[in-house]
Amino acid sequence: MYLGLDLGTSGVKAMLIDGDQRVVAHATGALEQSRPHPGWSEQEPAAWVAATEDALGQLKISHGAELSAVRGIGLSGQMHGATLLDASDKVLRPCMLWNDTRSHAEAAALDADPRFRELTGNIVFPGFTAPKVLWVRNNEPDVFAQTATVLLPKDYLRLWLTGEKVSEMSDASGTSWLEVGERRWSRALLDATGLTEDHMPSLIEGTEVSGTLRGELASRWGMGEGVVVAGGAGDNAASACGMGTVHAGSAFISLGTSGVLFAANDSFLPNAESAVHAFCHALPGTWHQMGVILAATDSLNWLARTLDVPAGDLAGELGTNLYAPDGPIFLPYLGGERTPHNDSVSRGSFIGMSHATDRAALTRAVLKGVAFAFRDNLAALREAGTDLTRMTAIGGGSRSRYWLKVLATALDLPIDLPADGDFGGAFGAARLGLIAAENADPLAVCAAPPTAETIEPETQLSQAFTDAYGRFRALYPAIKGAMN
Ligand code: XUL
Repeated sequence: MYLGLDLGTSGVKAMLIDGDQRVVAHATGALEQSRPHPGWSEQEPAAWVAATEDALGQLKISHGAELSAVRGIGLSGQMHGATLLDASDKVLRPCMLWNDTRSHAEAAALDADPRFRELTGNIVFPGFTAPKVLWVRNNEPDVFAQTATVLLPKDYLRLWLTGEKVSEMSDASGTSWLEVGERRWSRALLDATGLTEDHMPSLIEGTEVSGTLRGELASRWGMGEGVVVAGGAGDNAASACGMGTVHAGSAFISLGTSGVLFAANDSFLPNAESAVHAFCHALPGTWHQMGVILAATDSLNWLARTLDVPAGDLAGELGTNLYAPDGPIFLPYLGGERTPHNDSVSRGSFIGMSHATDRAALTRAVLKGVAFAFRDNLAALREAGTDLTRMTAIGGGSRSRYWLKVLATALDLPIDLPADGDFGGAFGAARLGLIAAENADPLAVCAAPPTAETIEPETQLSQAFTDAYGRFRALYPAIKGAMN
């Protein structure tokens, strides 16, 4: 048995798989985000530990025998968070999460130093780790002075699980301190934020062993001695391991809270100018690119909340037939945008409403707006040298048939739906746990699930969608000045 632990934003999911990679059981411990000020988003690291205990406690009750047979654990986690510890490993302040944009001024200042893009291959986004630490240095100097270690969220969980301070390449890529092409910490970039390599965990690959489970926890969960904990991965790379998106040219589109267009690469292919994320993959010697939009299902959820109608009902009332886009255009920048605009200040807009605009027209506009934002991401990946011919859809939004058709037609690419199953971060993490425990071949373990169905683009609507995308594309530069 192998255990995957995915520390997400809304919960910690624990998943047990057997040696044939069949999902045996899963359980989730819930988490909440605290937003004490506009742009802030925080969690207490103690809550991650409590949620993990909760999920493992549930598994112990429902599947105690299977849990006791665990040989390897893999970790997946929300990326970019800054967990600051003092010299005795005490947490100094709540963790600032990936969607915390308070450090936008610090991010711009670091990004203006050409060494950051040169060495990391990425823009310093406000959500990344380095600008957050600089914000703490500027605003909470006492906390900064006591900071002895900086850990990413899942690596804090690892410290609790194993007592080891270790990170791995995929998650470390989102800190702005990793030389992503070389797979090592950059002394120069750490120095630019007032840190040294002593503040950082050691680095391994996601498939390697980072340590063994502490005896106290092993006996609490009924496990034996010597359970290994793999390096694991940032949540997107972990999902890619779960989906088999590990060969150059394979890709997935994730319709979750945020939206991610993820492509696996066999070399480092940065394109910071278009706000592409070029990161290490979790498997040795591989990289990946991502376009990230901050509000995917979050855009539909916002509309649903505003209209006081469940999101599923809003999507459901559109039926499944696609027509040429008309009606208003929606820019989904509710909390700013990463790819391609790198703009934490702009906000969303509806443009072109008429007397005839009804609820369904607003929903269509929101789903189309997110699809066109993904088309921007596809264009950014193409500019960075990656040409995709198809992709697999994952995430809650992929339950909407209408939305999948809009996406396939807007991107002009077939979209595959995996056969029933849960191929997210927890499953990918469990696979990494298996690889580390058994020294198994990573590519053989990270196979793609069978495709249940393919959604083809509706080619007779391609021109109409391209024209509508042109209008969408022209709007952001036209109205940006009015929002800042
Ligand atoms: C990726 C990113 C998000 C978080 C969500 O760059 O910020 O996908 O990892 O958990």
